Amino acid sequence: GLKKKEVNVLCLGLDNSGKTTIINQLKPSNAQAQDIVPTIGFSIEKFKTSSLSFTVFDMSGQGRYRNLWEHYYKEGQAIIFVIDSSDKLRMVVAKEELDTLLSHPDIKHRRIPILFFANKMDLKEALSSVKVSQLLCLENIKDKPWHICASNAIKGEGLQEGVDWLQDQIR
Ligand code: GTP
Ligand code: MG
Repeated sequence: GLKKKEVNVLCLGLDNSGKTTIINQLKPSNAQAQDIVPTIGFSIEKFKTSSLSFTVFDMSGQGRYRNLWEHYYKEGQAIIFVIDSSDKLRMVVAKEELDTLLSHPDIKHRRIPILFFANKMDLKEALSSVKVSQLLCLENIKDKPWHICASNAIKGEGLQEGVDWLQDQIR
């Protein structure tokens, strides 16, 4: 059959935000891991949509590994940025990492699409995606297409809407 277009995606965000859980849900069920553990360094994963074949760089969000992110910026054609909506204390840290990303020379002048997941929406203390968007000042991103979805990665809720948006940005 026709070969799908290959797209490199960077999955970024603080440790414990749910990046690996999200990527795992997007994989075919026979390829899904049963136990998710904190990512060491990074891990390369693959999943497909109707028209695209994604290669995901699932980066560790732990402080000591965040300096690895920038080495993959050049190769990335799209970004998935995951936020733990219930982690109010670290929302400012998430914003700092996002701002550092957006001002990096390999990202700054590119019209690279960014999909945000306001994850863990199932937790009662979770902020709404609108609130997360305000705290991260997403409306200031004017030179890149972006979109935010509330998600529950454990149940897989909200993920398809996000990936559909991403696919539309790339085709
Ligand atoms: P690092 O690899 O350390 O950067 O973390 P990560 O962003 O990949 O997070 P990971 O997917 O390992 O998930 C961290 C924890 O959050 C795990 O215990 C997950 O089960 C849990 N988790 C992920 N998504 C959700 C969610 O939507 N709701 C709830 N309640 N828990 C979640
Ligand atoms: Mg991980």
